Amino acid sequence: MWRKALLAAVCLCLRWAALGAEGKNNFEGIESKFSLRTPAEPDEDVCYLVPGQVNSLARCNFNHTSKTFVVIHGWTVTGMYESWVPKLVDALYKREPDSNVIVVDWLVRAQEHYPVSAAYTRLVGKDVATFIDWMEEEFNYPLNKLHLLGYSLGAHAAGIAGNLTKKKVNRITGLDPAGPTFEYADEVTRLSPDDAEFVDVLHTYTRGSPDRSIGIQKPVGHIDIYPNGGGFQPGCNLGEALRLIAEKGLGDVDQLVKCSHERSIHLFIDSLLNEEKPSMAYRCNTKEAFEKGLCLSCRKNRCNNLGYKVNRVRTKRNTKMYLKTRAQMPYKVFHYQVKIHFFGKTNMTKTNQPFLISLYGTLDESENIGFTLPEVSSNKTFSFLIYTEVDIGDLLMVKLQWEKDTFFSWSDWWTPFTFDIQRIRMKSGETQKKVVFCSRDGTSRLSKGEEAAIFVKCSEQPANRKRGGTKKASKENSAHESA
Ligand SMILES: *[C@@H]1O[C@H](CO)[C@@H](O)[C@H](O)[C@H]1NC(C)=O
Ligand SMILES: *[C@@H]1O[C@H](CO)[C@@H](O)[C@H](O)[C@H]1NC(C)=O
Ligand SMILES: *[C@@H]1O[C@H](CO)[C@@H](O)[C@H](O)[C@H]1NC(C)=O
Ligand SMILES: *[C@@H]1O[C@H](CO)[C@@H](O)[C@H](O)[C@H]1NC(C)=O
Repeated sequence: MWRKALLAAVCLCLRWAALGAEGKNNFEGIESKFSLRTPAEPDEDVCYLVPGQVNSLARCNFNHTSKTFVVIHGWTVTGMYESWVPKLVDALYKREPDSNVIVVDWLVRAQEHYPVSAAYTRLVGKDVATFIDWMEEEFNYPLNKLHLLGYSLGAHAAGIAGNLTKKKVNRITGLDPAGPTFEYADEVTRLSPDDAEFVDVLHTYTRGSPDRSIGIQKPVGHIDIYPNGGGFQPGCNLGEALRLIAEKGLGDVDQLVKCSHERSIHLFIDSLLNEEKPSMAYRCNTKEAFEKGLCLSCRKNRCNNLGYKVNRVRTKRNTKMYLKTRAQMPYKVFHYQVKIHFFGKTNMTKTNQPFLISLYGTLDESENIGFTLPEVSSNKTFSFLIYTEVDIGDLLMVKLQWEKDTFFSWSDWWTPFTFDIQRIRMKSGETQKKVVFCSRDGTSRLSKGEEAAIFVKCSEQPANRKRGGTKKASKENSAHESA
């Protein structure tokens, strides 16, 4: 097997040398195919645009005045398109019915051993760049209408394409760009912020040590979003996989294995289809700070929309952003920071404590949201993040309950664990509103394993700013770090 790989690698080097010697607009070496898909048949290759053949554009009904999306797939074991391809094409046409959605077919090169296919991204990128330059030079197709979307290895191919075109393309979206062989690679050989006017990246499967991670861990765009921390996505655990197999049969096992990796695509599709439910991401220095709820600010471009309607914020340094999501589409959740001071008469510190919080608002309620505090101690303030898929509107009331441990513990039985709480401070990420809740009796006792303590909106409230991300704020190019 490795011999085939070695041979392919040698051929590849020869081809590179040949390419270097080629002159302007030589279309001979192009092996990638450019399929202009249609809204009616998003899953069929009905017409190919052929670089150098002007009539192919008219033949395929290419719309010169519309925007163009170029979708680039990744490594494939089966040598076939994966099922997300027509789904993404369909979603792009639903959102932008007049656009041109082109799928780059590099399946032949994408089914080699991973390192060989990874090296081929250079040639695929070169093919795509030649195609784009041809469109630009031949018809003055404006590159500010061009949006490349690349998944896994395809993200790096898109980056290379963007680096090689004579003029800059408008936008590249990297959907969980591949990690292996790229994590420590040069900027020229991988996706990087230089590759387009704006580069946004979703990282959804960045697990394990950097050299083992399926998705690249380091930020490689202007904005890099790490949904659910970027490591692993909800609904992608084995139990969930088995349930789905039981429901839908073995047909989609391939998809389940790549569940977290592919989630990047479905999050983007979600942003195209569910315009009225935009997921919001928040800038944060670390995942840990985000988990503490410390990064829910929208001031100075610190929050942004995930996916299609992202605000183009270009900072000097890469921007890492975080959010939580649901396990299914629509993925949007509502984020809250909760801050509580735990008063205690005796010195007490407990670790990994389970709590339930219930939120009641003007529109709806969300009861018994579970969360675990890594530590609670007497006379200390703790901040943490909670989230719910329910849009509860403006908050009116909060209930807090300290749960029993799931196992029986003698110490719990002997010593009554209680804290006194006067106020709960909450901040909503989505509305940017801050609300303080008070105990109705001045102080509420929270006892482990006992009833919930109730808090209502205090009569005095902090002054709330207008919601962030205003016109003025979005003009600023470099914003400071939060948290
Ligand atoms: C091409 O797209 C434009 C919008 O960009 C639209 O107004 C026009 O009808 C389209 N032309 C055709 C032939 O579909
Ligand atoms: C290509 O990438 C290199 C390395 O990031 C960069 O120095 C160069 O400016 C890029 N060229 C273009 C045209 O984007
Ligand atoms: C915590 O603070 C309260 C007053 O704020 C005090 O009465 C109590 O003794 C303190 N608890 C401990 C363990 O120091
Ligand atoms: C609690 O612990 C702190 C430091 O560990 C100590 O200064 C304080 O006196 C203790 N309070 C009580 C009530 O034991």
